[in-house]
Amino acid sequence: MSPAVISTIAELRTELDDHRRRGRSVGFVPTMGSLHAGHASLMTQARAATDTVIASIFVNPLQFSAGEDLSDYPRDLDRDTELARDCGVDLLFVPTVEEMYPAGTLLTEVRLPHLAAKLEGATRPSHFTGVATVVAKLFNIVGPCLAHFGQKDFQQLAIIRRMVSDLSVPVEIVGCPIIREADGLAMSSRNIYLTPSQREAASVLRLALDAGEAIIKGGATDPGAVITAMSAVINGEPLAQLDYATVVDPLTLEIPANLNHDVRLLVAAQVGRPRLIDNCGISFEKVL
Ligand code: PAJ
Repeated sequence: MSPAVISTIAELRTELDDHRRRGRSVGFVPTMGSLHAGHASLMTQARAATDTVIASIFVNPLQFSAGEDLSDYPRDLDRDTELARDCGVDLLFVPTVEEMYPAGTLLTEVRLPHLAAKLEGATRPSHFTGVATVVAKLFNIVGPCLAHFGQKDFQQLAIIRRMVSDLSVPVEIVGCPIIREADGLAMSSRNIYLTPSQREAASVLRLALDAGEAIIKGGATDPGAVITAMSAVINGEPLAQLDYATVVDPLTLEIPANLNHDVRLLVAAQVGRPRLIDNCGISFEKVL
């Protein structure tokens, strides 16, 4: 059955209150639409974990800076509704900007500068304030018991987890694995901007992560060696412009002094129009 498409906060609250009164648990998947298999995997996991599954589609202006792709971010509600239906989503929340921000702007912000200023935040300074603020607002509108986020946006996931913990938001955050194309490129709504030759070059991000993982498994304990190796792989691809390649603690997102505990490898590069990101986790047990 096609999901019910709801565009107002009031109607959604009434509908979800009814589900909760009937004792149904609510699982939530926030998205910006242009859905692909990565989003589908979050919806499928929500379907398996909760009685009522709600997904939102909202291209959130707060998390775009001037010059980014807000106005031409890919949108296709009919296709998105079909994909959501195939994943068993019950409700699709698709608010307008006016519905979410009726006063034109918010005077309230959710900021986590210690986690948000680095990595993606270094080139997109207001991005994670926009993300944390809209996700907090969506959590207040939906009131889910579980919310599913992709590890693809690892910094975003770390920030949402910390916000939920700091503010005692009554929701459990589920981090879901990265879904990839056959050649290893992480799926992303922005991959459609790649020309065929850029599309081929884009697999260099995954290759860089593989190189970093191999060095750690080979016994490297110095983060600098891993960073150098991953950077060299991306710098070897003429169509890719390295932004960062790094190894961080998964909670603090700081580079550890030694590689003797679980870490996350993170890479970002410009390939043609889109900035692409990717990451992978290395558990210390996996190394031993
Ligand atoms: P969006 O980019 O649409 O992504 C929605 C969710 O899908 C995020 O949790 C993201 O990590 C996940 N996702 C995207 N590509 C994935 C892939 N290849 N594998 C697994 N999961 C993937 O992230 C946002 O929207 C927004 O910032 C949002 C959280 C909705 C706030 O506006």
